[in-house]
Amino acid sequence: MSLRSLADAAGVRVGTAVTASPLRSEPRYRRTLVTEFNSVTAENEMKWERLHPDPDRWTTDDADLIATTAHDHGMDVRGHTLFWPHLATPDWVTQCTTRTDMLTAVADHCRGAFTRYGDTVARWDVINEPMHWLEGRLADQSWLSVIGPAWPLDVFRVAAETAAELDAAPELWLNVTHADVLSDKQALCIELAQQLLAAGLPLHGIGLQTHCLVPDFIPELPTPEHLAAVVRSVTSLGIEAAITEMDMLADPSPDGLDEQGTHYRELVAAALENPRLTEVTFWGFTDAHTWITEHFGQRAPLLFDEHYQPKPAYEGVADALRHRASLVATEETAT
Ligand code: XIL
Repeated sequence: MSLRSLADAAGVRVGTAVTASPLRSEPRYRRTLVTEFNSVTAENEMKWERLHPDPDRWTTDDADLIATTAHDHGMDVRGHTLFWPHLATPDWVTQCTTRTDMLTAVADHCRGAFTRYGDTVARWDVINEPMHWLEGRLADQSWLSVIGPAWPLDVFRVAAETAAELDAAPELWLNVTHADVLSDKQALCIELAQQLLAAGLPLHGIGLQTHCLVPDFIPELPTPEHLAAVVRSVTSLGIEAAITEMDMLADPSPDGLDEQGTHYRELVAAALENPRLTEVTFWGFTDAHTWITEHFGQRAPLLFDEHYQPKPAYEGVADALRHRASLVATEETAT
């Protein structure tokens, strides 16, 4: 049984980041994608600098390929991402000097993205990584200095108002990094969500990236109990949670890959115990195509090996999805 059919049975999305180039050139990349997943996230192709590099120019071929492929195969698309203060924002935006100019650029960008992808993108990561990478404070790029200390609220409000004007109704999400392991980031993320909700803004959910970059970037994995508690801190606000970018550095020996499989199983199962966690997306699916190689070397982070063979990590995730399906079945019998 594929991950996709297990996820369908469990009523959740199992997703992957996807890139346009192997989708064009490698039949087995496309085959594995459409067989194993029911949701996709463009790895880079829907980021601002790729989609809308100049104020009046949109370059959408790659993003369109991803959106059309998903549509043709009945898969959801998570739009990633409208705004990302750390990276992938064109200079003409970061060089705005007034709040009005920057928020006008934000509104134009939303208008174009919602218009182009109204039929295909079900949910957008409105702001990706609003916080500093490793500290519990807001990212301090030009967004903070130009728009002001409440910039995430201001930007989210413009996105929500633009969607309403267009009668578009994508789900609007925040996407955060390392809140699964750093408690000050978790606290700020919850505070931000509370502020958005208190302002009456339609925050649909919070994506937890869950890049497991141990030991190179973070000292240790979250325990399954801790991850479940972080997910609960989100869902207890009355909104959804998702795992949006999971990958995991491993020692590529057989024992290392078994250990990785165990961690994948335990962490994904712990997250999926929560009925308001609706999606688990991985940041790619084959070790042949992963951002990890460039940044951390050959670390076998994904569910399929370089030859598209399933690894223990795949079996771990399949077990976790089966577990969720069994929880759903038990609930249905009880009601
Ligand atoms: C990464 C891509 O995988 C790389 O190809 C690109 O060079 C940089 O961005 N968090 C995110 C993703 O939200 O958008 C990042 O994707 C990985 C970390």
